[in-house]
Amino acid sequence: MYSLSRAEDIMQIFIDSADIDEIKEALSWGIVSGITTNPALIQKAAKKHGMDTFGRYLDEILNLVRKKAPRNSEGTVSLEVIGQAHEGETLDACLIREGTVLWERFNRVAENVVIKVPINPWTQQGDDKYAGIKAVNHLSKKEIKTNVTLVHSPAQAIMAAEAGATYASPFLGGLDDAIAPKTGRTKDKFGYYPREGESEGHYGIAHDSTSMMVSGAHLVETIAQIYRIQEYETKILAASLRHPVQVAEAAAAGAHLATIPFPVLEKMLDHPLTKDRMDAFTAAADDVPEYKKLFETETP
Ligand code: E4P
Repeated sequence: MYSLSRAEDIMQIFIDSADIDEIKEALSWGIVSGITTNPALIQKAAKKHGMDTFGRYLDEILNLVRKKAPRNSEGTVSLEVIGQAHEGETLDACLIREGTVLWERFNRVAENVVIKVPINPWTQQGDDKYAGIKAVNHLSKKEIKTNVTLVHSPAQAIMAAEAGATYASPFLGGLDDAIAPKTGRTKDKFGYYPREGESEGHYGIAHDSTSMMVSGAHLVETIAQIYRIQEYETKILAASLRHPVQVAEAAAAGAHLATIPFPVLEKMLDHPLTKDRMDAFTAAADDVPEYKKLFETETP
């Protein structure tokens, strides 16, 4: 049976899901090269599937990816730390402990685990905002693969690469969601926001005032340029993707990987003209009985 073999330098498609039904379906297409999860996706899957046997549920997913991802593809599954420190534990020690627990428990199953660590886990006074970078650096030195998540600026992507991240995950949709309201229009979660941004009236093009980016696609484009010029080995994993056009923009910008929710993956196949022409082609075949007969009589 034909099986897709990946060249190293093409954008690979991951599914952004912890739902085993979606994962099985997407892997059966033969083009999905890996999975990303996060605590919110695990929570959603747990509500649907129960998951009192959480470990075995993840084991099944890890084995599925090993068997079904295309040859030479990344074939990885990103599992995220939760950043819940024990009494008296520093945040960097906590991230390292959680990352090591995930790695030791799950990487032996199919040797395809990547530990997802936030670029900056700071949430409250007293937290160490360097904990993510320290943890990534520590895990990288132990040859544990890392996916630096929650990247919303090129500067954060530089820090991720300097720390030795395997992947850096810019959040395109999340950034668009934060910028879009400045234009005075509402954008639904799976709506498209243009790469070149939109006007904010007399303030010019609406942008995120921390990163100065005008859209999520602008973010991935800028990171790709920086990584190329600086020759960083960290791969860009475009995340928080909400629309097929955004996936195409991430690919055009040079993302190495794109992690895509199942409904967006499905929409990537749609175009009304494709359906119209398909209807016409099928009807045309009706006018040539010999053509139709071939498929009734011949078996390969
Ligand atoms: C994947 O790595 C991210 O966790 C995910 O893409 C976030 O997507 P969201 O912004 O749609 O929640």
